[in-house]
Amino acid sequence: MTQKTTIVDIKARKKTGPPITMLTAYDYPWALLVDRGGIDIILVGDSLGMVVLGYPDTVSVTMDEMIHHLKAVSRATERALVVGDMPFGSYNVSVEKAVENANRMMKEGRADAVKLEGGKTMAPVAAAVVRSGTPVQGHIGLTPQTASALGGFKVQGKSAAAARALIDDARALEAAGCFSLVLEAIPAPIARMVTEAVEIPTIGIGAGIQCDGQVLVTHDMVGLFDRFTPKFVKQYANISEAIASAIAVYADDVRTGRFPGEEHSFTMKTDELEKVEEDQ
Ligand code: KIV
Repeated sequence: MTQKTTIVDIKARKKTGPPITMLTAYDYPWALLVDRGGIDIILVGDSLGMVVLGYPDTVSVTMDEMIHHLKAVSRATERALVVGDMPFGSYNVSVEKAVENANRMMKEGRADAVKLEGGKTMAPVAAAVVRSGTPVQGHIGLTPQTASALGGFKVQGKSAAAARALIDDARALEAAGCFSLVLEAIPAPIARMVTEAVEIPTIGIGAGIQCDGQVLVTHDMVGLFDRFTPKFVKQYANISEAIASAIAVYADDVRTGRFPGEEHSFTMKTDELEKVEEDQ
């Protein structure tokens, strides 16, 4: 029997290690691959909007789109903890709406937890969702849903004041009951200080080695999304190239009559075939 990863397991890793591994997945086949790869947390991120649905950013992603993809990922996942990302407009409007949408993530999407972006100001929302029975992962630093308000996709926490604010944000989210925190695009020494300031695990993306875990967008790290690649991405494969070459070879095989071969075709009994041929 495969042992399902729990919130308790994830929290314990702060003390016991090894570092927590987290990757995104948005559909059944990718969730199978990530789960079978032994990754601890699968995030159905709202990066869905950019890497799968072709939106220019994450702001347009809807709850219905998130639920649709979350369902597929939950069906595939046996071992990893599944986290559903709350899209822009689903939680930053009111506490009631946040609780209602978090319930949808759990009930319809079969998520194990949700993630929402924002620091101190979002802590009361996170607290209400936690109280309603849904575990919450916080997300601070560069928060892509509000990149416009942050002045673009920029590294956060670079001044002493901004760094102190990040530490305050982390503490507020811990006090709200979050079980872990994503730290995105912040200087490594500040990520270390945030990590030391809280008892819950931090999971970094562009936040250096001293977080309690790491997360990447899977489509970035396997080379399946090339519109842009942030500096913090390490590309472990280039599957776009492999797929493009398979498509080109298939097209050439069809055009030149090399596909389908006999091994891909069906036969029938000769006497039955002859009867049909006689009719012609
Ligand atoms: O949506 C997403 O993929 C994320 C990760 C970058 C953490 O929020």
